[in-house]
Amino acid sequence: MNAPTHRRILVTSALPYANGQIHLGHLVEYIQTDIFVRFQKLRGHDAVYLCADDTHGTAIMIRARAEGRSERDLIAAMRDDHLADFAGFCVQFDHYGSTDSDANRHLCSEIWKSLRDKGLVVSRDVQQLFDPKAGVFLADRFVRGTCPRCRAADQYGDACEKCSATYSPADLIDPVSTLSGATPEIRSAEHLFVQLEPMQGFLRQWTKESGALDPRIANYLTGHFLGEPLRDWDVSRPAPYFGFEIPDAPGHYWYVWFDAPIGYIAATDEWSAARGGSWKEWWHRGGTNEPAAEIHHFIGKDITYFHTLFWPAMLETAGLALPTKVRIHGFLTVNGEKMSKSRGTFLLARTYLDHLDPAALRYYYAAKLSGDIDDIDLNLDDFAAKVNSDLVGKVVNLASRTARWLAGKQLSETYPNDGGLFARGAIDGAEIAAAYNECDFARAMRLVMAAADRANVYVDAEQPWKLAKAGPESAEQLRDVATVALNLFRQIVVYLTPVLPELAAETGVLLGVPIRSWEESRQPLTGVPVAPFKPLARRIEAPQLEALMAASMPTAPPSTLSNPASFGNASMTTETTETTETTDPAEPLAPQCTIDDFAKVDLRVARIVTAEEVPEAKKLLKLTVSLGGEERRTVFAGIKGFHDPAALVGRLVVVVANLAPRQMKFGLSEGMVVAASGAGATGVYLLSPDSGALPGMRLH
Ligand code: MSP
Ligand code: ZN
Repeated sequence: MNAPTHRRILVTSALPYANGQIHLGHLVEYIQTDIFVRFQKLRGHDAVYLCADDTHGTAIMIRARAEGRSERDLIAAMRDDHLADFAGFCVQFDHYGSTDSDANRHLCSEIWKSLRDKGLVVSRDVQQLFDPKAGVFLADRFVRGTCPRCRAADQYGDACEKCSATYSPADLIDPVSTLSGATPEIRSAEHLFVQLEPMQGFLRQWTKESGALDPRIANYLTGHFLGEPLRDWDVSRPAPYFGFEIPDAPGHYWYVWFDAPIGYIAATDEWSAARGGSWKEWWHRGGTNEPAAEIHHFIGKDITYFHTLFWPAMLETAGLALPTKVRIHGFLTVNGEKMSKSRGTFLLARTYLDHLDPAALRYYYAAKLSGDIDDIDLNLDDFAAKVNSDLVGKVVNLASRTARWLAGKQLSETYPNDGGLFARGAIDGAEIAAAYNECDFARAMRLVMAAADRANVYVDAEQPWKLAKAGPESAEQLRDVATVALNLFRQIVVYLTPVLPELAAETGVLLGVPIRSWEESRQPLTGVPVAPFKPLARRIEAPQLEALMAASMPTAPPSTLSNPASFGNASMTTETTETTETTDPAEPLAPQCTIDDFAKVDLRVARIVTAEEVPEAKKLLKLTVSLGGEERRTVFAGIKGFHDPAALVGRLVVVVANLAPRQMKFGLSEGMVVAASGAGATGVYLLSPDSGALPGMRLH
């Protein structure tokens, strides 16, 4: 393969508002961007990931006042929270700045000057609602009143939720300031505007020809926006406002959306300066000898105009580099609906981290993101099933079922014949890389899982557990099989490194060779020592999801809920929000038994090999379980409705292995799967051993 040409790639995510906490919707963007950057770095490119808090505006000012502290104090605290959340999800910025920085103030002045010099700034009086009690001009969201069209009460200042009308806050009937409860007055104030119409020609051309935008977005903008004269952009706010005062217009502040995107350059400035460089190395326009850097902005669809109209217009005027790509993603829904506090689906990053593994979300998002603008859904049921079957059941399982044979030993000295599997995986690397590069992570994940399937078929066919039982004369063969399995596992992990950096690091420890480059997928390891196997991933269990949603419920539950939250069929209603910790007092303990009584029950770890519904039975699933080696049992389990059969395949459970077979209407049941349930609970909960346990192990 040709060494990929060296690229310099500056990558940004939209700057999160300092005003709010990071939630799983935000993370669609930050995880996506992080995967892209990690991929480019793994390929050996010069990629940097820059971001910052977006700190200015009325909302921060109002909240700081309400909390009796300064704005700077508040944004410093929010910054710490944001950074902790991002670190929790392995989102790794090269630099995380703030729009409230000296670098940003300076750059804003420079760009402002170029807009002035080109004669694009004009001033005009604007009628705006003013809260006389709070002494501030009111942004639309701080005004509520009766809709002028349908007369619905208590609507926002710019749009009606009942009839979808949009209007100016001045048209609201009986407007009320949500800040003070005062009746706002209409006041006139001078605002500064940037004229965009002179940029129309440039914007049309850039939209259509630069290649920065997906053709669908370009067509949309051309059809709906660039077709008519562009309105002037209101870029100033009168005092009081938390932001930068405009140097040549005292008493006026740059509107938050003016200084926010400039924050991308300010972050570059701070990051470069710390390395003795200059932001201009990234934002200048490439000369003939020097290849220009690429600039990729990842944003959500709600902020498209800012990044495809205002921002390129500002950069063009200032003579700076234009974005190479504006990569626009859709919105996150949870269980098919908009995130909702009352349904317990407004999921904060922090709450998630309290209950679940960040790697699971990174993998799930990767499997869903294909680089287009469609919304993506976090269906909690599907989330658990997908993570359990792919990450745990296919990928990690490859190592957990083979590494143990070689713990404290070494991989074979020469790479054994694997029927071409490793070579096939190495060839796939080009296609997987192309998918990552286009942000079609979903495709990359499908290709990787296909490789994992092939590797598992190999292990199933070679049956290393049989070789282990056969004793010393099979030791070499066993070592070869484990060597192949671990190399196929490692190749897969190299491909997953952008998504699962921690799995990559742990795999580096397992095999003693860290994963630093994509090229490591091309050469199998031989002769290296294998470290003792440590669990690499955990299954997601329904109670964790229940706990996540319970913890996301508003503290005082609303009195009526039209749509109780549920996942799978283990539904959780508002009345049972604290199901996670309550045990069932209704079932008394059984009479004492002796250790000998207990020893009569042979409890074993078993792997579910097949699972299917019994159509005629309300409660039964028909399972085939493996007790290790060739031992198979058919078991009818009363768990239908609580478990999706497809998601059960591959998981470990506990069975009573010596229960007398029982002839049932649907067939012979040769054992029993152990599950927990209680009169006060809605679900039936299967038990799982810690990772590392193997089918056939006995419970003592
Ligand atoms: N501060 C602005 C961006 C300024 S960029 C110069 C902003 N902040 S935000 O906190 O509201 O959103 C940050 C990013 O997260 C945006 O790209 C936004 O689209 C994205 N998302 C916020 N909620 C989201 C979902 N529910 N789903 C997917 N992305 C979401 O906008
Ligand atoms: Zn209305």
